[in-house]
Amino acid sequence: MIATIIPKRQKHYSVLLDEIISIITPQYGGTFIDCTLGQGGYTKKILEFSNTKIIALDRDRDTKKIALELEKKFKNRFIFKNKKFSEINELELTKEKIKAVIFDLGYSYTQIKDPKKGLSFDASGELNMKMGLNNFSAKDAINKLDKKYLEKIFKFFGEERDSKRIAYKIIKERKKKEIDTQKLVKIIESSKIKKNYKIHSATKVFQALRIFVNKEISELIYGLINAARVLDEGGIVVVVSFNSLEDKIIKYFFRSLSETKSVSRYMPQGKKKNNLFKLTNKKPITPSTKEIEENKPSRSAKLRFAIKAKNISNFKTDILDKFNYLIKIENYSEKL
Ligand SMILES: C[S@@+](CC[C@H](N)C(=O)[O-])C[C@H]1O[C@@H](n2cnc3c(N)ncnc32)[C@H](O)[C@@H]1O
Repeated sequence: MIATIIPKRQKHYSVLLDEIISIITPQYGGTFIDCTLGQGGYTKKILEFSNTKIIALDRDRDTKKIALELEKKFKNRFIFKNKKFSEINELELTKEKIKAVIFDLGYSYTQIKDPKKGLSFDASGELNMKMGLNNFSAKDAINKLDKKYLEKIFKFFGEERDSKRIAYKIIKERKKKEIDTQKLVKIIESSKIKKNYKIHSATKVFQALRIFVNKEISELIYGLINAARVLDEGGIVVVVSFNSLEDKIIKYFFRSLSETKSVSRYMPQGKKKNNLFKLTNKKPITPSTKEIEENKPSRSAKLRFAIKAKNISNFKTDILDKFNYLIKIENYSEKL
């Protein structure tokens, strides 16, 4: 799990960049969708190859500055939309054959360093955590949601063991005064039964809140489904994730839609999986020791990819049912 503290460095490192380039092979040209432009690390590398075109998205309006520079430099080869990646199917792509859709989940160094975004537990002031195009903030969630909802958010989105005690203290403290970032950190620290020396005490609750505020579970699920829809046959979905919850969803999506040995050939036709994907790597690709030394937060990164084996866009998937228990928790936002 990535620690939500500001790393002592000056720029954003693009995680597993060389590995991504070797999977998507931009040297042979093609159109690529970069779902998470961020600081433009992946996009800039792909645009170094002459016959490439990028359609980039990012929910954070602050990435528009980088997008404008790229639009100027690569006039007919770069398009940017300030959109959430769950909506890639709404892009007008009729003429495009999409060779790869790339997701680099989470947040960039620039975002975590921005005190206004309140993503770091070093930040002072109001709780926020909105990455862009949100309807509510962490301040609303912490100061308005019932105890039972906070508890579930911390438990399921952060795997926080002391979720009950933390939620109880939040309710007690917010009766006296609105809770800001530093107050929340103090509440968490004072609620922990056992101290974890590997990560900051607030890491798990901050991750949980960020997932909740940005609806990261449904973003990922709809992002994956729509990526698979817009890809051309032979195209690749590539995802870099940073926590076990994300990796579980990605792994399930790819495996459940690909041929695996466990599916019997005697199974009735209707029950057979539709083998939308071909998987060449069952295990995730992780950063080398050298990359982790250069960029410590990359240590929790996992890269998975799947090749679209059939040119269909109306495939069936049970991923929404499988992870419905998590989507229900995201929908507690309707109580706000
Ligand atoms: C880890 S950064 C990407 C860094 C980028 N690959 C690079 O090399 O510079 C993740 C970016 O994804 C964006 N993002 C996160 N969730 C998103 C979503 N659901 N839709 C669109 N953008 C999203 C964030 O705003 C952030 O800028």
